[in-house]
Amino acid sequence: MSAVGSPTLFQEVVETEGHLIDSHIMERIFDTVVEYQARFEVEQFRIGRTNSDPSYLRLRVEAPSRESMASLLQQLLGLGCAPVDISDVTLSAIVRDRCAPEDFYSTTNHRTLIRHEGRWLEVEDQRMDALVVVEGQRAFCRRLRDLRAGDRVVVGMRGIRVAPEAKERDRLAFAFMSNGVSSERQVETAVRQTAALLRQTQAAGKKIVVVAGPVVVHTGGAEALARLIRHGWVQSVLSGNALGVHDIEAALYGTSLGVRLSDGRQEEHGHRNHMRAINAIYHAGGVRQAVESGRLKSGVLYECVRAGVPYVLAGSLRDDGPLPETITDMNEAQDAYARELRGAGLVLCLGSMLHSIATGNMSPSWVKLVCVDINPAVVTKVSDRGTGQAVGVVTDVGLFLESLAQTLVPA
Ligand SMILES: NC(=O)c1ccc[n+]([C@@H]2O[C@H](COP(=O)([O-])OP(=O)(O)OC[C@H]3O[C@@H](n4cnc5c(N)ncnc54)[C@H](O)[C@@H]3O)[C@@H](O)[C@H]2O)c1
Repeated sequence: MSAVGSPTLFQEVVETEGHLIDSHIMERIFDTVVEYQARFEVEQFRIGRTNSDPSYLRLRVEAPSRESMASLLQQLLGLGCAPVDISDVTLSAIVRDRCAPEDFYSTTNHRTLIRHEGRWLEVEDQRMDALVVVEGQRAFCRRLRDLRAGDRVVVGMRGIRVAPEAKERDRLAFAFMSNGVSSERQVETAVRQTAALLRQTQAAGKKIVVVAGPVVVHTGGAEALARLIRHGWVQSVLSGNALGVHDIEAALYGTSLGVRLSDGRQEEHGHRNHMRAINAIYHAGGVRQAVESGRLKSGVLYECVRAGVPYVLAGSLRDDGPLPETITDMNEAQDAYARELRGAGLVLCLGSMLHSIATGNMSPSWVKLVCVDINPAVVTKVSDRGTGQAVGVVTDVGLFLESLAQTLVPA
């Protein structure tokens, strides 16, 4: 960073390459510079001549202070814009477990490369809000709580390249991927396009991960989800205690939170049923044992056990029971989610704000995320928390699942 001309101005030359125009990245770069009270001058701009050609931008930026330039560079890096003078990253050794130096580099969810000993290394386990630890010739995203004394972490902003995902260009099949949230679109279209995404993910050999809230059971969608699991469309289920409890309650007693799924009426003393469900699982020794002994004969978890599909139930302050399988240590639950998300190509979030945002935080930006919720604000929230690739389908999750299962597993 150098102060050129006026001693109060700090300058940098940054560059980026990619689908800058139709992904609106260029616009965001300019806006960001202005937002930080800095100025820019385009030194070079080369537009991609075909839809697969990348564009190239080289920009001189001037900021009023060293601090504002540092903050601006951090933002520009997230947009894929890195200083031209490429040097190796600066590494700093951790002295105490979980304590990072003040100027640590905090990751985005985009593909990231760092330059180390003259070579570009792709950062593994990409996720947002992590630090980058370098071990030999490999670099990893590591959460603050996982840092150990002796780890070498990236500090500052030199020698880092970030590649934001370009907007989906396959307009025919997945046009809705670029359309954000809308409640004014035909649900059938969204279902068809989601089904196409599932097929594409499966054909690419990637995992389809379902994140589901208890409303899936309340709205009668559990049977459709179970069918999708039975027919191999789901490789992992991430949820909380409530989905497990109500899924089992529905399987054993035909109610969800005491409401009869057959006619939507409150069953007499039905409020006991979710506690009876938890009790039954404790008697059996666990969900797997309940399936193996024949006590549990249907539902989402039943199909998971039968098909060998892993599921994670994360605990919360609201939980009843919880079920023996529910992971009540939140760090452990996060780790279990993160393990299941490895190798995911598509995450389908179904009526759970908490778990949808959590899953978005753990996923790299090239993993597609479809968020189905009755409330458009939830999808906006997922996107605003950094999961920009999330697309929303605003509808009742029970109807959506039924329609999706009919599309993929016709009766
Ligand atoms: N019995 C229990 O133990 C129990 C009960 C409830 C919740 N919990 C726990 O609390 C945590 C949060 O629960 P959550 O995921 O239900 O809450 P949440 O608030 O995170 O998400 C619920 C979401 O469902 C959406 N929704 C509501 N009706 C819908 C419909 N018909 N179609 C589509 N979307 C709809 C809402 O807009 C909301 O975004 C979880 O960990 C859960 O396990 C436990």
